[in-house]
Amino acid sequence: MFTTDSLSGDKPEQYAQLARQAQALVAGEHDRIANAANLSALVYHALPRLNWVGFYFFDGNELVVGPFQGLPACIRIPLDKGVCGAAARSGETQRIPDVDAFDGHVACDSASRSELVVPLLIPGKSRNDALVGVFDLDSPDLDRFDVMDQRGIEEIARIYVRSLG
Ligand code: SME
Repeated sequence: MFTTDSLSGDKPEQYAQLARQAQALVAGEHDRIANAANLSALVYHALPRLNWVGFYFFDGNELVVGPFQGLPACIRIPLDKGVCGAAARSGETQRIPDVDAFDGHVACDSASRSELVVPLLIPGKSRNDALVGVFDLDSPDLDRFDVMDQRGIEEIARIYVRSLG
């Protein structure tokens, strides 16, 4: 059985603990669905003030929903739509303090007020081949994510990509 201790200390220390738990969860496993499912559950239950945590996978054309925690979500997101599409298209993390102010936001869960979306890119591959998908965190609170959250979740995303082997 996998048990997680609750996070303690300041935010960077909490994210260091979360990264260690994430690493332990995916150790020895390369399956992209299994690892996405477990990392969604880990992050959703470890961090406060979230209403949705999950993965969208790039199918070569658009983003398709993968494992997640939260309410049922939009299934397909074109790359020119939403915060997820912007992260996938640009290859840059999108940290959005107020989704209502984001042009083209895709409202899957009306409770979402702020959002953090990290692109999942395989290092060393060309831009077209590198994109695995995105890791998406939504919060019911405005301005939920600061730069420490961004760095912490980017590290979890790297652990996920590395786990794919
Ligand atoms: N709001 C996202 C869509 C995905 S859901 O939040 C689960 C977006 O604008 O890309």
